[in-house]
Amino acid sequence: MEKKRMSRRHFLGRSVAGVTGLAATRAPLVWSAPPDSPNDRIQVGIIGVGARVQSASGLLEAVQAVPAVEVVGVCDAYRGRVERAIARTQGNARDYGDCVRMLADPAIDAVIISTPDHLHRILAVQALSAGKDVYLEKPMTWAIEDGPPMVAAAQKHGRLLQIGSQGMSSKTQETARERIRSGGLGQVTLIRATYNRNTRSGAWLYPIPPDATEKTVDWEAFLGPAPKRPFSLERFFRWRCYWDYSGGIATDLFVHLLTTIHFLMDARMPSRVVATGQNYRYKQTHEVPDTVNALLEYPEGFAVNLSSTFNNEAASDSGFEILGTEGAVIFRGGQLVVKPESPVEGNDWVVSSWPEQLERAYFEDPKVRAAERPGSWDPRMLRESEAFSEQGRGSTAVHMARFFDSVRARKPTVQDGATGHRAAAAAHMINESIRRGRMVEWDASAGAIRKVA
Ligand SMILES: NC(=O)c1ccc[n+]([C@@H]2O[C@H](COP(=O)([O-])OP(=O)(O)OC[C@H]3O[C@@H](n4cnc5c(N)ncnc54)[C@H](O)[C@@H]3O)[C@@H](O)[C@H]2O)c1
Repeated sequence: MEKKRMSRRHFLGRSVAGVTGLAATRAPLVWSAPPDSPNDRIQVGIIGVGARVQSASGLLEAVQAVPAVEVVGVCDAYRGRVERAIARTQGNARDYGDCVRMLADPAIDAVIISTPDHLHRILAVQALSAGKDVYLEKPMTWAIEDGPPMVAAAQKHGRLLQIGSQGMSSKTQETARERIRSGGLGQVTLIRATYNRNTRSGAWLYPIPPDATEKTVDWEAFLGPAPKRPFSLERFFRWRCYWDYSGGIATDLFVHLLTTIHFLMDARMPSRVVATGQNYRYKQTHEVPDTVNALLEYPEGFAVNLSSTFNNEAASDSGFEILGTEGAVIFRGGQLVVKPESPVEGNDWVVSSWPEQLERAYFEDPKVRAAERPGSWDPRMLRESEAFSEQGRGSTAVHMARFFDSVRARKPTVQDGATGHRAAAAAHMINESIRRGRMVEWDASAGAIRKVA
């Protein structure tokens, strides 16, 4: 048994230094090795076993579906969730009490971190420094400054970091990416994306379990690096409504759309962002806005228009439209449609105001006649609409399985720290523009929002 443990630890301990480094850093080669034996099990601990972990199709289900991976421990700041999570592992996982004890246990190979956002940096850095591979829920960061130390910790300790924006592991996004990369859309200049909701009680005002008290909730552990405040079950269970723990719509919802856009377009960071955000409806309960509109310009040559409201979802709940000169990729209502454009000249309404003779001569010109007709297709261009729906395993299950593929093969993760940092940083630019009431620019050399005089 000890021999097996040693050998698994030895395998998992091999260097992956640099695999999560920012692109500008020269990464040492990854030494990859097959597992010691097909039965070699990876032992996992979960820090924060809340709704994302325990809900249907959530992280627990996803990790339990990965062969030869075992959830052996959990920790959480609310006792009720620990008990429920242990029950969901049929008693196989144990309660570590707090994450320091879990991270000190050499039997734990990898951890899943799914706490409120303000704890992501501190927990991920501690876990990576303790030699664990880390699957960290999105958004990777609560603030832009959180990102670089997390990437550096993965690199320094030779550990893998994967961020949990599962959309990029979906078939539909893979298909959209293929269509864009094949050139079928022509030149993409505008992307529109939305993330809308409307619920009776109000977005993020989740019910509070009746047994939650100062005895069953570890308030200090929840606060972590956040400002000290009196015990509040509202803050603890509805943390997304407060700036101390969340970035609201931009970091909670737009970060999914931004990750998708970066992935589909091979984009890195917007150069300029301007946004507005207001709390029109939930003034008593939410510090963060319930309606956000943002415009982002990318140096790769396209613009993005993001919008979200918590006050209506009838017209468009969530999705995106990628608009190219020769076609569009439209993802709405769970369905992806790839749609060709039929660009025709359409100048007749202007030319009809010319002297009659000139109008006639204009339309007799063979070049004009050709341009007025659709159909001179480049073979790469789309001919007809195609529709795709997600099939097979859910994207969370695939994303999780891909993390453990990386852990076993010691190969880079599909969404590494640098990628997660950039998607979250773009979301933070949106909030910064809202706060400053003006456009903000990305200073690529400083890796920060440009300071204004
Ligand atoms: N990828 C997705 O689609 C998706 C969906 C939902 C949530 N999320 C992300 O997952 C994370 C968790 O969200 P959630 O909805 O599950 O929130 P949640 O409040 O339901 O769960 C968070 C859990 O963390 C626990 N916690 C707080 N402080 C802790 C500490 N110091 N140590 C250990 N546990 C602690 C809380 O008690 C709670 O059980 C967030 O970062 C969120 O953005 C991602």
